[in-house]
Amino acid sequence: MQGQGNGRGSEILPAEGKLGVMLVGLGAVSTTFIAGVESIRNGRSQPIGSVTQMSTIRLGKRTEGRIPLVKDFVPLAALDDLEFAAWDPIPDDAYQSAKVCGVLRPEDLDPQADFLRGIQPLPAVFDRRYVKKLEGANVKSGANKLELAEQLREDIRRFKEEKGCSRLVVVWAASTEVFMQRHDVHATVASFEKAMAENHDAIAPSMIYAYAALKEGVPFANGAPNLTVDIPAMLELAEQTGTPIGGKDFKTGQTLMKTILAPGLKARMLGLNGWFSTNILGNRDGEVLDDPESFKTKEESKLGVLEYILQPSVYPQLYDKIYHKVRINYYPPRGDNKEGWDNIDLFGWMGYPMQIKIDFLCRDSILAAPIVLDLALFMDLAKRAGLRGIQEWLSFYFKSPQVASGLYPEHDLFIQHWKLKNTLRWLMGEEQITHLGTEYYADYQ
Ligand SMILES: NC(=O)c1ccc[n+]([C@@H]2O[C@H](COP(=O)([O-])OP(=O)(O)OC[C@H]3O[C@@H](n4cnc5c(N)ncnc54)[C@H](O)[C@@H]3O)[C@@H](O)[C@H]2O)c1
Repeated sequence: MQGQGNGRGSEILPAEGKLGVMLVGLGAVSTTFIAGVESIRNGRSQPIGSVTQMSTIRLGKRTEGRIPLVKDFVPLAALDDLEFAAWDPIPDDAYQSAKVCGVLRPEDLDPQADFLRGIQPLPAVFDRRYVKKLEGANVKSGANKLELAEQLREDIRRFKEEKGCSRLVVVWAASTEVFMQRHDVHATVASFEKAMAENHDAIAPSMIYAYAALKEGVPFANGAPNLTVDIPAMLELAEQTGTPIGGKDFKTGQTLMKTILAPGLKARMLGLNGWFSTNILGNRDGEVLDDPESFKTKEESKLGVLEYILQPSVYPQLYDKIYHKVRINYYPPRGDNKEGWDNIDLFGWMGYPMQIKIDFLCRDSILAAPIVLDLALFMDLAKRAGLRGIQEWLSFYFKSPQVASGLYPEHDLFIQHWKLKNTLRWLMGEEQITHLGTEYYADYQ
């Protein structure tokens, strides 16, 4: 992440005019997000789960009593200024799709029906080889991947103009693609573009969207575990075009719990032998993840968390024998109402064993929707503040945060939260809060 000058207190362009939020994928997460924003705008709901809307931020000393809302402290787009568009290979409008996804009850969805019907998905860049369990007719065609990117860029420009937006952000909330590793063609923008022109298999649809967004200077956040913007070519392009990027994989459900609990166990120097996590879910995401190749992408994203939080190489007596297992089971009767079980085998003083059991009856898209909102607003803030490249301060929202090469990702939710708020203070030229607190005690003066 780089700023203008030292970034601190440097000028941030105002959030004037409309912000267009372009979503890749118009499924459970996207429709729950859009319906929720509209419900909030109409005074029917509260923005629960959203840091930008509900959280306060302490400024200065505890005695100063300065604790504004985040949205009053940093210049963010107002909810009334948001416009929405989406791409999806399934031609259902946002209302139909939300009904099929079955996340929201009719009494919460129907008041927004007309608004949601107005959001028709744009034809997608879609290829079944990358998401095996899906089929859809609303798909673009082109001679090669570079041409498809051009079509996406036209969509972006047209939407901006038609809705009169002054700024845009793109959020990937589409299905998880099959597992892919970095390839030589991902090394530079030039090799990436050549590979696009040659229809190379190492260029996944998600990368074509990201390329199109970055070429247009539009921030891109990746809510799925796909590689997408986590390749050198995208970093180079983000630098060139002065564009923020962030990923990967929205941190909801079981991983959220893991990054809340594991730092606490580690803080108390309690040992762990194993952490077994299993889930049942029955939505389309669950069906896509039933394909082993898509699951592998998800598994990689979920498994790293404990390793980085617990640091077994630093604390071998406590953590070098952890057996960590994650399963996701597609079970249609559950729909979006996932159930996640965790069995944690821990040990304490003199090695005595203990167990913790978690049974989280969670609603995935209800947890993901406020993350989409916060990411859209903060990515737009980052762009206006002159930040470009990886926005590590937004790690708070991701299961598998992207970081600069040579750095390990910070997974501890509390460190991530601290980093996020200190970045906001830094952006606005306010003092960092260290929680040292000696200034309140005369003996230390
Ligand atoms: N629900 C959560 O809490 C959560 C948490 C973390 C990550 N995610 C990820 O977010 C993504 C969306 O989740 P969801 O529950 O909304 O899934 P979903 O299956 O309901 O919606 C995904 C949509 O993406 C569309 N799609 C697939 N490939 C596309 C492409 N190339 N272009 C445009 N659209 C495409 C599908 O047709 C579908 O409508 C998934 O990758 C999921 O793994 C979700």
